Amino acid sequence: MTAPTPRRPLALYLSLLDAVPGADEPARVRSLRRLLVGPREAWPAALRERIDAAGVSAGYLTRGLLSIHRFTPEARAALEAGLPFAVARRVNGLPSAAARRRALAPLAALDGEARGRMLPRGLAARVDRLSRAEAAGAESVGPAPTVDASGWLPAAETVTPPRAMRGDVWAFEPAVGPRAREEPLAERVVEALLARTIPSGGELVDVTAGRGTIGLVARRHGVRSWSGDLFPGAPFVQRADARTLLVDRPPGIAPACADLLVVHPPTFPTWARGAPDADGGVEAYQDALGAMLAGSLGVVRPGGFAVMVSRPVRERGAVSVAVS
Ligand SMILES: C[S@@+](CC[C@H](N)C(=O)[O-])C[C@H]1O[C@@H](n2cnc3c(N)ncnc32)[C@H](O)[C@@H]1O
Repeated sequence: MTAPTPRRPLALYLSLLDAVPGADEPARVRSLRRLLVGPREAWPAALRERIDAAGVSAGYLTRGLLSIHRFTPEARAALEAGLPFAVARRVNGLPSAAARRRALAPLAALDGEARGRMLPRGLAARVDRLSRAEAAGAESVGPAPTVDASGWLPAAETVTPPRAMRGDVWAFEPAVGPRAREEPLAERVVEALLARTIPSGGELVDVTAGRGTIGLVARRHGVRSWSGDLFPGAPFVQRADARTLLVDRPPGIAPACADLLVVHPPTFPTWARGAPDADGGVEAYQDALGAMLAGSLGVVRPGGFAVMVSRPVRERGAVSVAVS
């Protein structure tokens, strides 16, 4: 029998679990993680041998391969069918079973005979493209719903709890394709933000909503939302300026009307292309972001949350992290 290698990720994962103590898969994964962050000399001999034979590092295992533990059954089956680990992981990160099914459609279309053999050329790349498109949120949120009489988007009738992401550093797929220039927030990040702030539902105000990705994701997780933007990109997004939100009071907006405020302004390069005060560089950008936050912060109820999503600015060889 040939030793499992990174080219056979599921077999490698199972063989490593087999080399450590534990009553079940979660317990073995915990043992493996504990061992891998410790000195190599403390690893059981069988584990050391298998890792050496596979030629992989402990970091590859803890940051990558062990995530198989959290794979949904369809992502695991895709891995077993020969989909590369990175692609199967991307599929696994999609926000719904429907989105995962759509991304895996080329694999599902293989007939019985073709399964178990090498995947046809180009199939993994097709699944990868589909899952990136799903992650960009183009289709997975479904048709745009409409606001109620109060200007708010109601929560969906059937909701699921938002999935958290572990730790303080979250990895996610950036948007690709035509929507990338709109700088949408990854759906997985929206979900994790909700899990960290209002996991059992509540009310959210998104003042830089664009096409309304945040409100649409929030809806699926039992959150009522109000969305506004200077240039609304969906029927349920109202035209509003974050800098003067509580002065203008568009329909639906009042002081202390939300448990969570999200401000997701344009990145510096996008802002600098259109802002009249772009000559002021990073400092003017910081002022613009400050004005958006200050103008809308009053919607947050006592004990609520305000989240600003921003990136460090790279300008003329320097990196400014003040905005983030
Ligand atoms: C990064 S995009 C938001 C993307 C959105 N959160 C999503 O996930 O699809 C930034 C948005 O901020 C809007 N914007 C810029 N200045 C604004 C202001 N003063 N008030 C409201 N919206 C503003 C832009 O029109 C743009 O749609």
